[in-house]
Amino acid sequence: MDLFEYQARDIFEKHGVPVLGGIVATTPQEARAAAETLTSGADSSVVVIKAQVKTGGRGKAGGVKLAFSPDEAAEKAGEILGMDIKGHTVHRVMVAQGAKIAQEFYFSVLLDRANRNYLAMCSVEGGMEIEQLAVERPDALARVAIDPIVGIDEDKAAEIVEAARFPQELRADVAQVIRQLWTVFKAEDATLVEVNPLVRTEDGRIVALDGKVTLDDNASEVRHPDHEALEDKATSDPLEAKAKANGLNYVKLDGEVGVIGNGAGLVMSTLDVVAYAGEDHGGVKPANFLDIGGGANAEIMANGLDVILNDPQVKSVFVNVFGGITACDEVAKGIVGALDILGDEASKPLVVRLDGNNVDLGRAILREANHPLVTLAETMDGGAQKAAELAAAAA
Ligand SMILES: Nc1ncnc2c1ncn2[C@@H]1O[C@H](COP(=O)(O)OP(=O)(O)O)[C@@H](O)[C@H]1O
Ligand SMILES: [Mg+2]
Repeated sequence: MDLFEYQARDIFEKHGVPVLGGIVATTPQEARAAAETLTSGADSSVVVIKAQVKTGGRGKAGGVKLAFSPDEAAEKAGEILGMDIKGHTVHRVMVAQGAKIAQEFYFSVLLDRANRNYLAMCSVEGGMEIEQLAVERPDALARVAIDPIVGIDEDKAAEIVEAARFPQELRADVAQVIRQLWTVFKAEDATLVEVNPLVRTEDGRIVALDGKVTLDDNASEVRHPDHEALEDKATSDPLEAKAKANGLNYVKLDGEVGVIGNGAGLVMSTLDVVAYAGEDHGGVKPANFLDIGGGANAEIMANGLDVILNDPQVKSVFVNVFGGITACDEVAKGIVGALDILGDEASKPLVVRLDGNNVDLGRAILREANHPLVTLAETMDGGAQKAAELAAAAA
């Protein structure tokens, strides 16, 4: 899960990373009040209005603007709210204290999958697009491998600031902030913590002015129940949200054939087979990924079917299950039970292909139930063909 900048700011603050005051606003009035709060008693009346969208380059796109008074903060917020930045609509801004920037640097630490390691990147030339810097002046971007067991300790932080060629007098201060950012990365189970720019202010402080954090969703449920509150429910797909609430691994796609299978590998190949079969039927495509996992009982099957059947784009459903630990008769009972539970809500044709453990028993159960919506398929290819055909006929 990617975080908004204001959420990254809050997490930075929690772990002692120096940040500036920032308050989220969704209206110009709120932005005015936020500016008043941030500047009352402060030595500067300057604030920055920053679009909160999960994409970079907000500055260049006009989504970061200075304001010299609370009224101007309201005015600038009015300009930025509703703006479209690279396909993201701005629903909130952060009103942040304005920094007097002397210098901009770059720092990030991320999961380096290719090397099965963590990687820190750092440069005294921050602010600009880091991808551009990496291409045009690779020497200016230090890359330091981080041993996951050791992390960024004092020695490693010293190595990073030296590799990035920070001037001697800044090294200790920058190294300390880098270690605090490592604490964020480790304590929150992040896969990315990026600060661009990390700045030196005119009064000599090192401050994180922007923050991009990606949290590892695999760590959320057990290790960080608090992370759920960071999720942006408003912009996530309602069907995906419903599936998530039911503990289903569901991803909405763009097609017409709903897909249910057990095991991520089988579901992935089912998507391929359906897409391929769809080419013979006017180009229908799979409507979703849904892995119901090992225990495909009636309730799980009903929850899965419920999500898929509520997708208005879906015209047919292909249930492709390989009986392993969960035998086919259990799955067949699950399907029959699910159709009972759903009653009239189940209104789209279902093609079912079962194979593996207790397949004969499973097929017999479905044949006996003789549900008008269910067609049995002998093979995966045959099932995909039938489901694509039914979807095309209903479109
Ligand atoms: N609080 C702030 N005070 C002063 N200048 C800022 C502040 N926040 C951002 N800036 C300036 O705006 C630029 C862009 O902001 P940033 O938060 O990095 O957004 P993005 O990376 O999406 O363009 C920064 O490089 C910095 O120069
Ligand atoms: Mg930035």
